This record gives sequence, C-alpha cells and structure tokens, in this order.
Amino acid sequence: MSNRGNETVTEAQIAVHWQEEKYLYPSDEFVAQANMSDADIYERFGLDNFPDCFHEYADMLSWYKRWHTTLDTSDAPCWKWFVGGKINASYNCVDRHLEAYRNKAAIIYVPEPESESHEVVTYQELYVRVNEMALMLRDFAGLDTGDRVTIHMPMTPDLPVVMLACARLGVIHSVVFGGFSGKACGERIADSGSRVLITMDGYYRSGKMLDHKVKADEAVQIAADYGQHVDKVLVVRRYAGQYQSETPMIKGRDYFVDEQLAAFCGKRVDPVELPAEAPLFLMYTSGTTGRPKGCQHSIGGYLSYVTGTSKYIQDIHPEDVYWCMADIGWITGHSYIVYGPLALAATSVMYEGVPTFPDSGRPWRIAERLGVNIFHTAPTTVRMLRKSGPDEPKKYNFEFKHMTTVGEPIEPEVWRWYYDVIGKGTASIVDTWWQTETGGFLCSTMPALHPMKPGSAGPAVPGIHPTIFDEDGNTVEEGSGVAGNICIQNPWPGAFQTIWGDRDRYVQTYYAKYCRDSSSTNWQDWPYFPGDAATQAPDGYYRILGRVDDVINVAGHRLGTKELESACMTISELAEAAVVPVTDDLKGKVPDVYVSVRPESSPSKNLETAVTSAIETEIGKIARPKNVWIVPDMPKTRSGKIMRRVLASISNGSDVGDITTLANPEVVEHIRQMVQG
Ligand code: PRX
Repeated sequence: MSNRGNETVTEAQIAVHWQEEKYLYPSDEFVAQANMSDADIYERFGLDNFPDCFHEYADMLSWYKRWHTTLDTSDAPCWKWFVGGKINASYNCVDRHLEAYRNKAAIIYVPEPESESHEVVTYQELYVRVNEMALMLRDFAGLDTGDRVTIHMPMTPDLPVVMLACARLGVIHSVVFGGFSGKACGERIADSGSRVLITMDGYYRSGKMLDHKVKADEAVQIAADYGQHVDKVLVVRRYAGQYQSETPMIKGRDYFVDEQLAAFCGKRVDPVELPAEAPLFLMYTSGTTGRPKGCQHSIGGYLSYVTGTSKYIQDIHPEDVYWCMADIGWITGHSYIVYGPLALAATSVMYEGVPTFPDSGRPWRIAERLGVNIFHTAPTTVRMLRKSGPDEPKKYNFEFKHMTTVGEPIEPEVWRWYYDVIGKGTASIVDTWWQTETGGFLCSTMPALHPMKPGSAGPAVPGIHPTIFDEDGNTVEEGSGVAGNICIQNPWPGAFQTIWGDRDRYVQTYYAKYCRDSSSTNWQDWPYFPGDAATQAPDGYYRILGRVDDVINVAGHRLGTKELESACMTISELAEAAVVPVTDDLKGKVPDVYVSVRPESSPSKNLETAVTSAIETEIGKIARPKNVWIVPDMPKTRSGKIMRRVLASISNGSDVGDITTLANPEVVEHIRQMVQG
C-alpha cells in the first residue's frame, strides 16, 4: 500500500474483513418501472465503443451546439470531453423544464424547526430566482464568466439558486461546506482567487440558531493574509429582513442579498452559451499534504455524467420525490441533490438540520409527509438512526422504491437494517463508490439488473473499466479476491479536469503512480488512481476497503492527516503531532491524535482541550478527534520518522507488529498501556 517514508499506513490493514454475503434481488415492481433494465447497456458502454458510448448521456441534455470531438486527449491526462459543444448547466436544470413542469416542485426545502412549514420551489419559481440572482451577481457584484466565487452556505434553497445563477453566467462556483471553519473557508477563497464571498447570517443545528456570518469575517481576514482581497461579502438572511447574527455588517463590504435582489425583481438574463469543457465549479477536498485541492469540474462532461447516472443508477423519473440527505457542500450534494436530479426535472428534497433532531423519527416524518420515494444517505447516518431509533421507521407510513448508501464501506449488518427496516424489505439499494474527483458514481449495482450484496459496491457502472494493480503495477487477477489498488483504465466525462492552479499535483497524485508513458497522449497509458484499496469477488463485485493514503474518511468526509497535524502544531507547546484513524461504531473512522510536548512545557488536561479546539478552529467540528493522547515521545524509526502504523494499531487495539527495529521500542509499551489501560 502507500509508503510514507519507510513506514506503511493503510486503512485496508485495519479494515474489517467481512464474509461473502448472499444476494438479494430487486422486486418485480421496481424492475417494471426502472429507467434501465436492459443488460445490453454494458455492451453499449464497452471499451470497444469508447468514448462515443458517452453520447448516450450527453444526449440527455440540451445543447446549443453539438460537439465535434467526443474526447480530446491531446493534453493528457487533462481530458476534454465534448469539445466544440456549447451548453449551459442552468438552462439544462431549469429553463428547459418550464414547458412541461413549470409548476412542479423542483426543490422542497425542509427547515429544521418542525414548527416551520416546508417551502416548495417550483421550476417556475426556481427560474425566477435564478435569473434575479444571476443579474445581481453580474450587475451588483461584478462577476463575469470565468470568475470564481466562494459560497460558504448551509442548507438553504438559496444555495442551489446561487449555484445555478453562477452556472447561468459561467461564473465558477466553489462551495465550501457550511460546517467548515472561517479559516478553512479563507484558505479556499485564497486558493480559488475569489473576490466575492456569499455566505449566510445563521442557520439551525440541533435546535440552535448558529451564527454563521462570524466565519465570513475570519475567512476574509485569512484570505487577505494570503494576499487575496475580498471586496464583497453577500449575506443571505435565514429570514429575509431579520438579521440572525450578532456579527456587525461591514459598511462598503457586506450586503444583504434580499436587499440587493430588490433591484432585479422580475428581470431575466439569458444563459451564456459556454464551451462544454469550461469549468462549472471547484470542489475542494483533502489530500495527503496540508493544502486542500480544488477539483475542477467541467460543464458538459460533468453534467452529462451526473444526469446519466442519476437516471440509471438513482432511477430518477420526473414524477419521483427524491431525497438525498447529504449536504450540498460536498460532492454528493452537487451531483445528486442539485445537478443530476434537476437536469432530470425531478423533485429534490433538501433538509436544513440534523437527522435526529428533535428525535430519530424526523427523517421518516419528512418522508411520509412529502411522499419521498427515493432516499439517499451515508452509512454513518444509517448507523446513527439505527442506534437511536431502531424501530422508529416502522411507525411511519412511507415507502421507498430505491435507496442509496455512499461515502464509506457499510457493514452488512447495518446494510440489512437499512434494507429490512427503512426499505421495508422492498426497496432496491445501491452502494455507490466514487469520489469528489470523479464527479459521479464509479461502482454500483444497476438497481433493476443486478442483485444486491450487502457490503459490496457491486460491478463498475457503465463505461467505467476498473483494474486492480499491486504496488508494482502488476494486474491483480480478476475476481481473485486479492486486495490491491483499484484504478480506472479509461477517462469518463464526469472526471475532474485538473486541480485548480496545480496541474503537476493533479498528474502526480492521480496518474503518476501507474502511468505507462508520461509523454503519451493515448488514454490507455494513463490509468486513474483514486487512492482506495479494493478486492474483486468472482462475481465481479468490488468491495472497497478504504484509503491507501493519509486520508481519514470521517462519517463519509475526507480529512487529510497532514491537515489535522498542522492544526495541532499551531499550539506552541507541542513538539510533534501524529494523527491516525481509529474505528468508530457510528462514524466509521475518526481521528485519534497523539502529541508530544516541548521540553519546557508539561502535559495537562488544558493542553488536550487546546488540541481539540485548534482542530475545530482550523478545520471544523467534523474533524474533532476521538482522543488526544499526550505521549512522552512518538515511536520512531532510526531515521526519525514517526511510525503512525504503530500508533494506529494501538488506537485500534490490534497487534503492533514487529517493532524491534524502532529507535525507541520501549515507548510503544508505554503508549499502549496509556491507551488500552
Ligand atoms: O475511500 C472512498 C470512500 O470515500 C472516498 C471519497 O470521499 P469523497 O471525495 O469525500 O466523496 C464522498 C462521496 C462520494 C473514496 O475514496 N467511499 C466513497 N464511497 C464509498 C467509499 N468507500 C466505500 N464504499 C463506498 N460506497
């Protein structure tokens, strides 16, 4: 697996290994109504028909001008799809549905307080709001095609409105997850070169109105420290006209969106006809070094891919009520709350708050009330709902035809509860494996075509051709069940185009490892390396084991261990910090933090608390560690490298392996006693 100096860190090593599970089959009713029940699709999307097979997805969209080149590989591995084509994502998600679906719900927004009624945004209303917002962004904020704008907003219908308004103009949006700190937001503003920040005054989490605007002030300051000036902060108010934050508005910089929109009431702006390969958005994700990576997604390729996969894998029809309980601040929300479902004229549900607020029956009351029939969530949420209200779903009258799990491996036991209790034994489940970088699904069963196997993502989706390689680039035998690094042999339209401003890092991180010829413009020479370990069973189903790099997948969200360690090192008393993943019943993995103090300082409870709060400030509460262990010294190799693998074994109660070659083996037993008692 991956090497960090001469130590080896692999989550796969500490991943739970499950038995092969029995198949479960989709119901006849599901199959009868499914968008895709023709097994020939895999032939149509075979490598023999590559890359033109993807016309099937692109043809689901409305183009101003058809492309002349399906895949341009001349700047390999920066792939360009549908070159020569002209398209607009906002037009495809909004305008083109007006004729047939003008007064159908596009978005149903459910506020967290149960006393507030939900808000229905029809396609007509979405059209009006997107137009007015786009004009405000253009004429008041001065944004133009190709500019970047950072959006740090929680779950509010204004978030997709702002995204689609940017898409209308060709402004590249960079949405930062609302739970991230002001500092994390500021770094992303600086990296993307945004001069405008769109934020919100406050929002509800677990019954409390959180002040969100306060983070904007910090973000602008941090961006300035990096040399990026923000000239306008646009503040959406949770309740128009009623500011919820205690943080003062700064004159000449901060503006209320509801006030500025008034000038554009009733006005319309034509969508800009944009090249298919122009960027639609940036989505930052964590990597192995401290700096987050801005994954750049295209308009034509990305939108084709999320539309095709939403139709076939999510089985979305316009008459479905589809609820993906992710946050739009992550790629799942971009692809499978906003762009994919809206391109298909679906009704997409958004929920503001915490799934278990005020109790674990909340999601099922929402599903019952709105008639949700497709449900999409992450294993961590399923675990949480199962723990806090195992019998709750039975009390409500809702019926899902289809359910999704995404973001991390799901234990077969948790999967079965999802199937039996939430799916009431009739819903088809897809376990979709993919990443921020990949835009859309890579592996999943096709819900009406394949049986489900708990704990396995399934075969590759149409047009995706994986191979498992060992460390040296040898192919692991297909269906052998032997673990290795899963790679994708071919490009696909949803794949990100590059890392914003850092092409070298893009090539290095995702392609260098298995590239056969770095001067080649032939896609066959550039397998894509996602950074996950996997096995393939004899039936062709893939089981994803976890990351092979220094990334911890916390509740389905990626955090780089380096990012966490740098956050710890902002505390001056610390000498060293090492962060390792520890298995957690609810969240899958969480960070365990080991720190040592400088000689002049001494360990204390306060220091432990300071480490936790440094992580919350630098990154956000999602990164909060399970434990902070203050150790006398780190286990180290003779060349002085910290042995994170040994610390991970201690945290997870597994065998520490051979430590005789360490410089300080005695410290291992000391730490083990401290952690395990
Ligand atoms: O390790 C894989 C895991 O999540 C990583 C991608 O994280 P992110 O970019 O934040 O995107 C999450 C939503 C797509 C992957 O490298 N992962 C994602 N889906 C699954 C998964 N692991 C196992 N099973 C999955 N279904």
